[in-house]
Amino acid sequence: MKKKSSLSFTALVFTCLASLKALCADEPHANFRPGQIWNDTAGQPINAHGGGILFHAGVYYWYGELKEGRTYLSQVNKTWGGTRVIAGGVSCYSSTNLYDWKNEGLALPSVAEDPDHDLACENVIERPKVIYNARTKKFVMWLHQDSPNYAAARSGVAVSDTPTGPFKYLGSFRPNAGVWPINVTAKDKKHQETNFLARDFRGGQMARDMTLFVDDDGKAYQFYASEGNPTMQVSLLTDDYLKPAGKYARIFIGRSTEAPAVFKRNGKYYMIASGCSGWDPNTARSAVADNIFGPWTELGNPCRGENADKTFLCQSTFVLPVAGQTNQLIAMFDRWNKWHLQDSRYVWLPLEFDMDGKPLVQWRDQWSLPLTK
Ligand code: DGJ
Repeated sequence: MKKKSSLSFTALVFTCLASLKALCADEPHANFRPGQIWNDTAGQPINAHGGGILFHAGVYYWYGELKEGRTYLSQVNKTWGGTRVIAGGVSCYSSTNLYDWKNEGLALPSVAEDPDHDLACENVIERPKVIYNARTKKFVMWLHQDSPNYAAARSGVAVSDTPTGPFKYLGSFRPNAGVWPINVTAKDKKHQETNFLARDFRGGQMARDMTLFVDDDGKAYQFYASEGNPTMQVSLLTDDYLKPAGKYARIFIGRSTEAPAVFKRNGKYYMIASGCSGWDPNTARSAVADNIFGPWTELGNPCRGENADKTFLCQSTFVLPVAGQTNQLIAMFDRWNKWHLQDSRYVWLPLEFDMDGKPLVQWRDQWSLPLTK
């Protein structure tokens, strides 16, 4: 009798261990588990922050910031300027089902040997996005390139013949030098001392948090937090997607909008975005426009559920249309861990629409595709 019970105890321990292992993130996923550690197919936590996804030839490619190593306090003008990690470059993962991601390595590495390089480890490489240009057959990456104190505020561009890279870095610039936005006013052109739009007219507009959007007609646009962050700008790209085409507009003027994620539904343009509070979460916002250059109408906080007023303790990064499923959208967020940025998590949730036609993101502990009502 005694022997039997000790055997069952051993069996119980093994069963528990097996169940625990099944729960662990290195098992293939059958669902999304927002905020949980998300391991790649090799059993390592996915490291692709502030990211975006390209769907190409039946495969999803997830590009993001590689945030590896010690988080440290950065100094700006001898005062505390927030936390940072050494820039690791742009990572790339591939998947055919959106649950299981294979690490494809660095699509664009940072540069350790040259502190003056744009992509130097000491610098900032954030919010990379990749789009495919059907005309040139090139994969084009845009990213937020910055100096350690975020004063440079530039856009970096890289190209590749393959989605996984390595991408060739072409350099960085401040967009739209020498061009006024299409909605400029006479007042906007004055007071260069205090008005960043006018101050930066010659050298180009500041560009921090950014995203790319490709419209149905193949035209591509960059959205970027500008003018020191209070105002966003949306800028048409050249047909090869490598530069600004010289047509841009100021949007969300004075609203300090960051973390833009843009998508289109039923002919209208939508944006999910955040306010501006460093790595700390704030209340998400949504907006709609008939014309990509505006006017954009704000639709309020799309989040519902616990911590909805703090974007589920996250910040938006991308909205992904699921391939082959009409109006099935995934809102992608980063849950930043500002004291250990490498351990920042991913929160992916279905993006739905409420009765009034406003974007709605409901918290779920876990969920899977297709989302049926
Ligand atoms: C908020 C931005 O959205 C992030 O991409 C990053 O730049 C942090 N600020 C840095 O504090």
